[in-house]
This record gives sequence, structure tokens and C-alpha cells, in this order.
Amino acid sequence: MTTIIVCDTCDYSMLEKLHEGKTGGEILAEHVERLAADTDVKVKRQSCLMGCERHCNVAIQAEGKLTYVLGKFDPNAHSAEAVVEYAQRHIESETGQVPFKQWPQGVKGHFVARIPSLN
Ligand code: FES
Repeated sequence: MTTIIVCDTCDYSMLEKLHEGKTGGEILAEHVERLAADTDVKVKRQSCLMGCERHCNVAIQAEGKLTYVLGKFDPNAHSAEAVVEYAQRHIESETGQVPFKQWPQGVKGHFVARIPSLN
């Protein structure tokens, strides 16, 4: 099962840590959780993925597959849609490597790292 890990402590913007009392990460996590609810994608929150300067950050991982770390997302529904759609393609992929042709537009330019599976 593919899990999206959303950093829930990322800043809202370059100027504001919070927006209406919530971090950008919390806002993004809420959108991702809502959109993933009807899918096979699991969502987990994590405080800090150590990419604070390029907020908001997420990681996409599954047992035995490549893990991807993505950042520089604005905390909104558009970003969340792209992340959830990409995670669905990650589920379909045998290795976790989603063909470029299948990348949602909203994840392009957001990849930070690809981490090999341990097994
Ligand atoms: S606060 Fe989100 S990566 Fe550090």
C-alpha cells in the first residue's frame, strides 16, 4: 500500500508560518486526507521531513518500492490533487517508478529525492 507522508509543520508561505491558525503543512494534509479518503492511498502526518526551506513537503512510499520526496508545494487543493494522483500511479507501478508520461502536471518540478527500497 502506498502512503503519502505529509509534513504537518511546514510553513504556510515565505512570509507566514501560519494561516488562520494552521501551518501550511496542516492545510495541505487536510486537503490530501480528504482527497485520498476514496482511494487506496494511505495518508500519514509527520512533523518535519527536514526540507523546511522548500515547504510544503511530502514523501510517497510503499513496502518494496522506490520512495519519492517532493517539496515546494503551495498548501492548497490543487497541490493535494497532484500528490494524490501521483500516489495512485505509484500504487499501479511495480517498482514505484511512475513513467513521466503519467505524471500529473502538478508534481513536475517538485521532486527532491528518490530513495531506493531496502528490499
Ligand atoms: S517543517 Fe516541514 S520539512 Fe521541516
